[in-house]
Amino acid sequence: MSSYEARFKVWRGDAQGGGLEDFKVEVNEGEVVLDIIHRLQATQTPDLAVRWNCKAGKCGSCSAEINGRPRLMCMTRMSVFERDETVTVTPLRTFPVIRDLVTDVSFNYVKAREVPSFVPPADLGPGEYRMTQEDVDRSQEFRKCIECFLCQDTCHVVRDHEENKQAFAGPRFLMRVAELDMHPLDAASESGLDRKRTAQDEHGLGYCNITKCCTEVCPEGIKITDNALIPLKERAVDRKYDPLVWLGSKIRRRPSGG
Ligand code: SF4
Ligand code: SF4
Ligand code: FES
Repeated sequence: MSSYEARFKVWRGDAQGGGLEDFKVEVNEGEVVLDIIHRLQATQTPDLAVRWNCKAGKCGSCSAEINGRPRLMCMTRMSVFERDETVTVTPLRTFPVIRDLVTDVSFNYVKAREVPSFVPPADLGPGEYRMTQEDVDRSQEFRKCIECFLCQDTCHVVRDHEENKQAFAGPRFLMRVAELDMHPLDAASESGLDRKRTAQDEHGLGYCNITKCCTEVCPEGIKITDNALIPLKERAVDRKYDPLVWLGSKIRRRPSGG
């Protein structure tokens, strides 16, 4: 493939507003969208703001929307577009713009802090943990997450609904709850933390209607909906309708003493 000139539209602006700017820019064989953004910075728009780090699909910082689809700029090859196609690059829509392609993703860090971490089992010391390979594999899938937040950006529950952000953790963090809830050594329940209940009551699991859009955009290929959200929903419902769990919760809630 020889070099050619591509047409790009790049969103430029800040929290006060902005719009798409047109560019014509050189493309060479093997390049990705991030290369083109860097070429724009080097040749036409030195002050174009873009966040990136590894250029290898591992740091999760170059997330943007390319022709309307949430993607990593460093993992989107120019060869997926026709040469005469205009490539439009816009910032993630779900998070507030800081400048140009850089958004403020702190919503995600707030949500991360709201999920209580792994509770170590009281009767086992370091080095004494034992798990089946199946359990290891299950959490390993979720641990591939690079925190690019493309799933969070895509999810329709918050994408155009600022009002849902407070009550909904989003797929990445519901997946974290699911991972901990299915962890065989997590001792949360012994310490009085019911992860299934918090998934529903505090992290907004009920808002998710399993459309799988989050799974479709995950660059790590994590089956967020099938392997985390649906199993968590099933366990949360089991808990709600299990008569013994229901009875137990009533007994525990009874005031003590006479
Ligand atoms: S499956 Fe649930 S979390 Fe994922 S995009 Fe759809 S509504 Fe959002
Ligand atoms: S689950 Fe996938 S899409 Fe979501 S933040 Fe992690 S790597 Fe990105
Ligand atoms: S620059 Fe690190 S994922 Fe794209």
